[in-house]
Amino acid sequence: MQIITDPAEMQSIAESLRLQHQFIGVVMTMGALHEGHLSLVRLARQKAGTVIMTIFVNPIQFGPEEDFHRYPRPFEQDAALARSAGIDYLFVPSPEQIYPEGFLTAIEPGPLSSLFEGRFRPGHFSGVATVVVKLINITRPHIAIFGEKDAQQLAVIRQVTRDLNIGTSIIGAPIARQSDGLATSSRNVYLSSSEREQATVLYRAIQYAEQETGRGRSDLAAIADEAGAIILTAPDAVTDYLCFVDDETFEPAEEAASGKAYRLVMAVRIGTTRLIDNWRFACP
Ligand code: PAJ
Repeated sequence: MQIITDPAEMQSIAESLRLQHQFIGVVMTMGALHEGHLSLVRLARQKAGTVIMTIFVNPIQFGPEEDFHRYPRPFEQDAALARSAGIDYLFVPSPEQIYPEGFLTAIEPGPLSSLFEGRFRPGHFSGVATVVVKLINITRPHIAIFGEKDAQQLAVIRQVTRDLNIGTSIIGAPIARQSDGLATSSRNVYLSSSEREQATVLYRAIQYAEQETGRGRSDLAAIADEAGAIILTAPDAVTDYLCFVDDETFEPAEEAASGKAYRLVMAVRIGTTRLIDNWRFACP
């Protein structure tokens, strides 16, 4: 595995790989690698001959009150995990290399970016879209793998790459979970042991929704309310949102219609840690 920090060097390696007809897959991350990231790498390995991983804690996608400075950065451990997962190139630029003096451009992804996560994190999706397009331009991938864990991010990235004719295929990967259902996340390390226990309410709410829609209920708004009550059984939980949405537009959905797909999306703060999760459901 080669570690590269210079964007120009990464880009010229990617260019020459393309000239050698290598099929390039990229997995973009902010590091603090866990099973969720590694599941993306496995998928990339199945589909691409050369796999590039990027590790970059992107300052412009964090709000002023958010955890940019304390975001975990265990680089040595990440590099070892990336190497054993079979990464060919690990691209780890500095903020100054990605946003040199004079950098002014931002991508605005449209209405999708002001709903749910976008409403609670103004500017977040513009920051994500801007860095993802930059990292695509630097790594020149044929495919880029993103987790469904961040379903709205995935939808934004599909929108932006389609709108801007980026040409890289965007592939979604299933949510990796721990044995009690908690979705793996770099932010889980912030949870105290009591908070970690309480964090299981997110998956319990999902299981409840799965059970109720599974027995044919279509009153999504009521199911979401009931699932919301499960979240509140955790004493330190505060729900930012919990709602069924149309799986494509992320518009809130009250009632399921046959043949359409929906997603239960949620953001819950447990103490000071903000967790997101979601579950997709196709109405038969
Ligand atoms: P990060 O949170 O590090 O996540 C990197 C990728 O791993 C994303 O595609 C995310 O959806 C995926 N991922 C995280 N947890 C997962 C899980 N439990 N199961 C499956 N996939 C999971 O998302 C970002 O970084 C950034 O916003 C980024 C896209 C790198 C842009 O800065």
